Amino acid sequence: MNLFSIDDLIFKNKTVLVRVDLNTSYNKSTRKIEDHERLREHSKTISELSEKKAKVVVLAHQGRKGSPDFTHLDQHAILLSKHIGKKVFFVKDIIGIKAKNRIKSMKNGEIIILDNVRLIDEEVENKTGIEHSKGKLVTNLFPLADIFVNDAFSVAHRSHASTVGFTQVLPSVAGRIMVREWASISKMESETCSIPPVVYVLGGNKPDDCLKIIEYLFKDGTRPIQTVLTCGVIGELFLMAKGNKLGPATYEYFKGEKYLILLERIKSVLKHYSKFIQIPDDIAFGDAGRKDISVNSLPAEGLIMDIGEQTIKKYFKILKKANCVVAKGTPGAYEEKGFEKGTKGLLEIIADLDAFTLIGGGDTNQAIKKFSIDKKKFSYVSLAGGAFITALSGEKLPAIEALKESKKKHKSKAHALSRFYK
Ligand code: 3PG
Repeated sequence: MNLFSIDDLIFKNKTVLVRVDLNTSYNKSTRKIEDHERLREHSKTISELSEKKAKVVVLAHQGRKGSPDFTHLDQHAILLSKHIGKKVFFVKDIIGIKAKNRIKSMKNGEIIILDNVRLIDEEVENKTGIEHSKGKLVTNLFPLADIFVNDAFSVAHRSHASTVGFTQVLPSVAGRIMVREWASISKMESETCSIPPVVYVLGGNKPDDCLKIIEYLFKDGTRPIQTVLTCGVIGELFLMAKGNKLGPATYEYFKGEKYLILLERIKSVLKHYSKFIQIPDDIAFGDAGRKDISVNSLPAEGLIMDIGEQTIKKYFKILKKANCVVAKGTPGAYEEKGFEKGTKGLLEIIADLDAFTLIGGGDTNQAIKKFSIDKKKFSYVSLAGGAFITALSGEKLPAIEALKESKKKHKSKAHALSRFYK
């Protein structure tokens, strides 16, 4: 089912609650937030609604209570204003009288951003849409609004008040980013990617995420044949599962990070599906400069930091024939001098492919920026982390489900707000 989008409703003179994801890095000591592509992209949706003469009330979060990046959204308002080229007013309140009065006094086209929705404890409770629709956030704000727009794909894996609550009580549509991200990720399950070879390049330092995707890919044998190219931590864990000794530095690091508990599951994947899974032939390590060694020469004398050149060549040959490619996580510690090769090499190869190429994960995004690779060369680069993984692992995204359900539930109300109702 297609989601309702901004094109389906008329926004003029309407009060619109728009959930975006402005979550970015925050430096607690300097009290500075980092500008992020998410802010630039969501600005376009917010700006469009304002141009359509809606009264735009932005809902967003930054960090989580207890985490060092948890803060107010005053600086986000300044950055949004800069990107939109129009004042975005920050209201240091969410559901109190100050916020309510400010919403009631809004003019057409005006934009305000309420404070961090995660200041309300209930926001992050994992509840159903119906439960959340009876909570503080929704019951206080929905009577003041006409439409809910959810543009925050990167929080779509959370069943939070602001992601699933409003869809119960307001005509709800997906914003531009939500539509784009969902359509691109859904392509992996569509005809486009039903023709093999479909190649997954999985790396980075969240091996549990990679393993979830791998287990899903081979779960019931009904999906097209996939090839998985492992690198980063998951690649090293596959080497270990095959009996290689990585060396004391990597072993201790993995132990500290609790990665070793994944070994049994990896062994089970290897037992059944090893012919679909590629693991590195060589790796790079070194405290005083990069040293490449074949996996036959393991253990390494230092912490493993990258895949080796032979592995890049082997993966290149496989990628060249691919029809669809998904890449998540970086092959190596690309931020460290001397260990850029794997990440830069594979991303450049993928960028030049004619295949459908889908890229995800925060670090991968950073690496694309660092190596000045033209983003437009990829079919799609997702702004999401956790939501991207959840979708690729075959799990439902509560916020997407909520939008679908709302489409059925609010058809008649949406009809009243729509000129071209389909
Ligand atoms: C993200 O940055 O990936 C999203 O904002 C979700 O954040 P969360 O993992 O704290 O829910």
